[in-house]
Amino acid sequence: MAELPSDAFIFFGATGDLAFKQIFPALRGLVRDEEFDVPIIGVAKAGWHLEQFRARARDSLDHHGGADPDTLRKLLGLLRYVDGDYADPATFARLRQELGATRRPLHYLAIPPDLFAPVVEGLAASGCAANGRVVVEKPFGHDFASAVELNGILHRCFPEDAIFRIDHYLGKEPVQNILYTRFSNPMFEPIWNRTYVRSIQITMAETIGVRDRGRFYDGTGAVRDVVQNHLLQVLALLTMDPPTGEHTEAVRDEKVRLLKAVRPIATQDVVCGQYTGYRSVPGVSPDSATETFVAARLYIDTWRWADVPIYLRAGKKMPATATEVWVEFGRPPRETFAENVRPVSSHMRMRISPDIEIGLGLRVKQPGERMVGKDVELILTRGGTADLPPYQRLLGDALRGIGQLFAREDFVEAQWRVVAPLLSAVAPLYPYDAGTWGPQEAARLVAPNGVWLNPAVPAPAPTQSSANVR
Ligand code: BG6
Repeated sequence: MAELPSDAFIFFGATGDLAFKQIFPALRGLVRDEEFDVPIIGVAKAGWHLEQFRARARDSLDHHGGADPDTLRKLLGLLRYVDGDYADPATFARLRQELGATRRPLHYLAIPPDLFAPVVEGLAASGCAANGRVVVEKPFGHDFASAVELNGILHRCFPEDAIFRIDHYLGKEPVQNILYTRFSNPMFEPIWNRTYVRSIQITMAETIGVRDRGRFYDGTGAVRDVVQNHLLQVLALLTMDPPTGEHTEAVRDEKVRLLKAVRPIATQDVVCGQYTGYRSVPGVSPDSATETFVAARLYIDTWRWADVPIYLRAGKKMPATATEVWVEFGRPPRETFAENVRPVSSHMRMRISPDIEIGLGLRVKQPGERMVGKDVELILTRGGTADLPPYQRLLGDALRGIGQLFAREDFVEAQWRVVAPLLSAVAPLYPYDAGTWGPQEAARLVAPNGVWLNPAVPAPAPTQSSANVR
């Protein structure tokens, strides 16, 4: 089926939260911007009929930016709805009927992983899976063994190149920009290694708590929710070797090669925390030991990165919402000007969200008689969020059969291997106050190198000049 576009879009879990928040708005974008006009079939067990489903779509768009009348009319006209239990063959027989003459359906499983098996089996038995593609949401399993099992279930009906595992971070423009900036500027490659890079920090901070996702989050925690997936994806793009050749798997091959060289994170290299008040969130156990904050140090066993400490940090209820990468370059072998320069003076900073920013930290001489310098940061790019929302980009790619922005089987399994030691409770769990950068204890991880570099709160406003002092 090479790269022929899918000719029907089916989504299971069509009356759920993800559909409401992400899928309908993404479909609106596809209809409006990309002339998407294939049948869209929602499947759920809600006892609904098509008009209720259409009303839900309209409501979703009202809550997420609206739609012009033409787009709305087209989108509502494409909607179909199949109601039924995922364990009942009659549901899939009805779906088969709805599919009519379509030949290359794309099935999106926006449902909990424990429902994957009955749905995939139902699709196969009814003939709905033939020539099809399947999109699955994170979390992809809850550990290595369950990920292998899920892969086995999907592979019963779909070849690997027809499976699209979503990590919405890969659909973010600034995440793509990491790859672009690194490999379209030859000046970076000679210094992107242990000789010049002293350490790397990746922070994903969010001011929000777990909101109405208490039950889900309490069974998940920060490591499974964002470290295993989003942060390791960012790490791979940041540290992988250049892709070789033109073939479609070139980037994913290098990412996997890199991730396989990441040492499983040692438990003594981790500090976990939980914000005060978390245990009273609805759905959270009153004696929960789930981490809402994690800081970790890891190492990559390659010639390029051996012994370079890499620090990851993610937390809820932090002082800022921002995901930021700092690549800290070493100082010269001796300070020629006898100054006390802070280690991070020379760096590359990539802000991934909520806004995009890439800054290059350098030292320049201050005007005057003395040879005294100051830290400046040259802003290479700065902007708001991308016009193309991640889900629109990702679903558009999946419909076209382009897999580069999705997690491949071997990558997901390598991700679970890296975090495996952290999946059973890593004691102790330190409390921290909402609005802080997590427990003090996290400082010990970076202490041999410096301090945690906290994203700016809020993002600095754009300036006229191309260089500014931080
Ligand atoms: C999701 C996590 O994958 O990513 C959430 O489940 C988190 O807990 C979210 O809030 C953050 O995504 P973004 O795009 O807002 O940075």
